Amino acid sequence: MAERVVLAYSGGLDTSVGIGWLKEATGKEVVAMAIDVGQGGEDMEAIRQRALDCGAVESVVIDAKDEFANDYLMPALKTNAMYQKRYPLVSALSRPVIARHLALTAKALGANSVAHGCTGMGNDQVRFEASVAAIAPELTSIAPIRDLALTRDKAIEYAAKHNLPIAQSKKSPYSVDQNVWGRAVETGFLEDPWNAPIEDLYTYTQDPDVFRAPTEVVIKFEAGIPVAIDGVSYTPIQIVEKMNELAGAHGVGRIDIVEDRLVGIKSREIYESPAGIALITAHEELENLTLERDVNRFKKGVEDKWATLVYEGLWFSDLKRSLDVFVDHTQQYVTGEVRLKLQGGRAVVTGRRSEESLYDFDLATYDTGGTFDQSMAKGFIELWALPSKISAKRAQRHNV
Ligand code: ARG
Repeated sequence: MAERVVLAYSGGLDTSVGIGWLKEATGKEVVAMAIDVGQGGEDMEAIRQRALDCGAVESVVIDAKDEFANDYLMPALKTNAMYQKRYPLVSALSRPVIARHLALTAKALGANSVAHGCTGMGNDQVRFEASVAAIAPELTSIAPIRDLALTRDKAIEYAAKHNLPIAQSKKSPYSVDQNVWGRAVETGFLEDPWNAPIEDLYTYTQDPDVFRAPTEVVIKFEAGIPVAIDGVSYTPIQIVEKMNELAGAHGVGRIDIVEDRLVGIKSREIYESPAGIALITAHEELENLTLERDVNRFKKGVEDKWATLVYEGLWFSDLKRSLDVFVDHTQQYVTGEVRLKLQGGRAVVTGRRSEESLYDFDLATYDTGGTFDQSMAKGFIELWALPSKISAKRAQRHNV
């Protein structure tokens, strides 16, 4: 039997042409695998069929929406994960789930390699290959677009010559990657970081500058996971979809950033992640109410490290898994409700409450009857400032 390679197949021009290229360059049979991570758009059955029409020996579609939401997005939410404080890791989160299915399918079908359609300039190639390596170290990864230096023009030419059933749509000036956590848009006129984004770029969010009456939503969390909106229970994927609708309608979650890629390039990125931004905003505030102070502070550093690891393709690394254990432990009491006001591109917390709240009204109130004993503050500050005082006296001796 001929050797097999499992290709992560999107249905687009590059990976469609990639099927033939892989066959010609490696002599392997190509199994196409399309993964549904809530990217929307084309029907998955049409994509499955197209891979066969382009020469795949087998074509599989995997609905990974629930898995993606449960096992990837919820951990990211518990971690308030943002790369460079602003990017909720839209593409970075989808790569490990796709890579996992590539690797598992390859093993199940006796293939000895996997393939993806990434170029050599981005983070995604690293994420795919590092994830596959961590799951199935015996597999090799092939990247036809990168390794055979295939350009878009060559792809179009190849598709025409071999009569591949690919819609010759006009070339989009942008490179777009999307899933249920958001959209990433790059290239075209955006490559000049001085150029402002235009309305055309966005599909998950409405123009935040159009005036609309605000929408209020109450999100209920249990142990760090959102479980209901306005009293109606939902699964994680449903919560994310629902929040995309509600927050997207107010233009929440648009991000315009110059980003430091793993490969060393700075790139200008436009993202939209309405559910991501709204949910992280709500979750983080519930943590402010329920996490013990030092845990809350320390967790910020863990979040930053976690986001960088995931951005850099190390989802399946030992360190990231260890940080997950820490984060999970912190979420035990992150249960309660947050009220968000959605308007004008912003998700603003206007209320929070929890059975597990560490906010003590009697301690916090400035009214008479408060239980905080202010007389304790004086001595506390004496001791707190003691090291500074001693050091300052030495500095005085040295006349500084
Ligand atoms: N720069 C972003 C990231 O590394 C987005 C990548 C989007 N991929 C794409 N093919 N447009 O996560």
